[in-house]
Amino acid sequence: MKVCVVGSGAREHALACALAPGARVVVAPGNPGIEDEVGVEVTAMPPEQVDADLFVVGPEAPLVDGLADRLRASGRAVLGPGADGARLEGSKAFMKELAGAAGVPTAAWASVDRLDDARAFLRRMPGPYVVKTDGLAAGKGVLVTGDLAEAEADAAAKLAGSSFGDAGRRVVLEEGLVGEELSLLVLCDGRGGLALPAAQDHKRLLDGDAGPNTGGMGAFSPVPAASPALVDEAMERIVLPTLAEMRRRGIDYRGVLYAGLMLTAEGPKLIEYNVRFGDPEAEVVLPRCGGDLAELFLSAATGRLGTPPTVDGDAAVAVVLAARGYPHAPERGAAIEGLDHARAVEGVTVLHAGTRRDPDGTVRVAGGRVVVVRALGETLGRARERAYAAVGAIAFDGMQHRSDIAATVREVATVPVSVSVPEAALR
Ligand code: AMP
Ligand code: GLY
Repeated sequence: MKVCVVGSGAREHALACALAPGARVVVAPGNPGIEDEVGVEVTAMPPEQVDADLFVVGPEAPLVDGLADRLRASGRAVLGPGADGARLEGSKAFMKELAGAAGVPTAAWASVDRLDDARAFLRRMPGPYVVKTDGLAAGKGVLVTGDLAEAEADAAAKLAGSSFGDAGRRVVLEEGLVGEELSLLVLCDGRGGLALPAAQDHKRLLDGDAGPNTGGMGAFSPVPAASPALVDEAMERIVLPTLAEMRRRGIDYRGVLYAGLMLTAEGPKLIEYNVRFGDPEAEVVLPRCGGDLAELFLSAATGRLGTPPTVDGDAAVAVVLAARGYPHAPERGAAIEGLDHARAVEGVTVLHAGTRRDPDGTVRVAGGRVVVVRALGETLGRARERAYAAVGAIAFDGMQHRSDIAATVREVATVPVSVSVPEAALR
C-alpha cells in the first residue's frame, strides 16, 4: 500500500515512522528529518497530484479548507474529515453548539462579538475565566486566568483584531474547568470510533504549568488516570453522542477525532475537539499502537473499522524543543547541534518539527516548535530518562524546553492490552 502523509511537522514525522514498516510512505511536503528516514520519500507536489492508496492529513488548516473533500471527489481514500466535520475545530462556537445538541458534558459558554456582551458574561461567572478566539490560532488563542480584569483586557484585544486578526473578532468565553487533562484520539469511520491509547499533553510553556498556552510542549502515554473504565465513559458520554449528532446532520466523519478532556470531580468533560492527530500526542500514541497501522487507517477511511489495535507494552515520552520567543514571536535561523548524538540514545527518535537544511548540511531553526525528542521505555520513568538524556545532547541559540514532562506522574503498568471498545462504538 502507498500512503501519502500531508504535512511538515513532528506529527507527520511520527506518522511516517509509524507507517513505514508496513507501507510505502510519501510525505507532502515533509521536512529535513523526514527526508532522512529510510524508506520514506518526500515530495514538493501538492497532495492532489500525488498518487497513493490512502491520504493521511496531519494539520487542521488543510482539512478546514476542504482538502479531504477534494481528494475524495477524485476517488481517493482519506483519513481526515471533510470541511463540514472540520468545523468542529475551525469554529469553537460550532463545536460548542454541536456538543450542546448532542448532550455532551462541557463548560458553560457564550459566543460574542461585542465587548459589552463579553464583559457581562465574564462578570456573571465565578472564575477561572477562559477566553478563546473563535477561529484557528494554532492552539495559542486561549487565555485561562483567575483574574477578571486580565480576561476582560484579553477579550478586548481579541475582539479588536489586535492580537489574533480576524480569528479573534468573535470570541468564545467559557467557564474554567478544573482537573487533570487527557487527550483521547479516536479513529472514526463515519459510523463509530475506536479509541487509541490515551495521552497527556503539557500545554503551558514553562515548568510547573506556568506561562502562556502553546501548541504543546511535551506529552506522554500511557496516562495513569485513563483507566479502561474512564475511557469507556468518555466514549459513551462524549465521543459517541458527538458522532451520532454529526451523522444526524449528514456529516460523514472519517478521520481522527481528538477529544481534549478535563477529568473533573463530576466526571470527564469535553474541553475541545480537534479534527486530527494531536501534536505532540501523536508522537507518543502512534509508537504504542501495534499491528499494521496503514491497514487500520485505511479501514477507517473506507468505513469499515473492525478490530482495535493492540497496545504495545512500552511507555513513551516526548519533549518539545522550541525556539526563543515561542509561542508569540519565534526567532528563526539558529544552527542546531547534536542531533546525531541525541539519536544515538537508546529508544530515542528525534522528530523534526520546524527545521530547514542549508546546502552545506547545517540544520537550522525554521519554526516555533523545532524538534521533538521522543523516547520509548519499559516504564514512563525510563522513557523520560532517555528523552532527557537526548535533550541534553542538543543545543541551539535560544532553545527552550520544559524539564518536567511526565515528571509528576505515577508509574502505571504498561503490559500489552487490547484497547477496550464500547459495545456501541461500531453500531
Ligand atoms: P483549546 O485550544 O480549546 O484546547 O484550549 C487550550 C488549553 O486551554 C486546553 O488544553 C486547556 O488547558 C485550556 N482550556 C481550554 N478551555 C478550558 C476550560 N473551559 N477550562 C479550563 N481550561 C481550559
Ligand atoms: N497538542 C495539542 C494539539 O495538537 O492541538
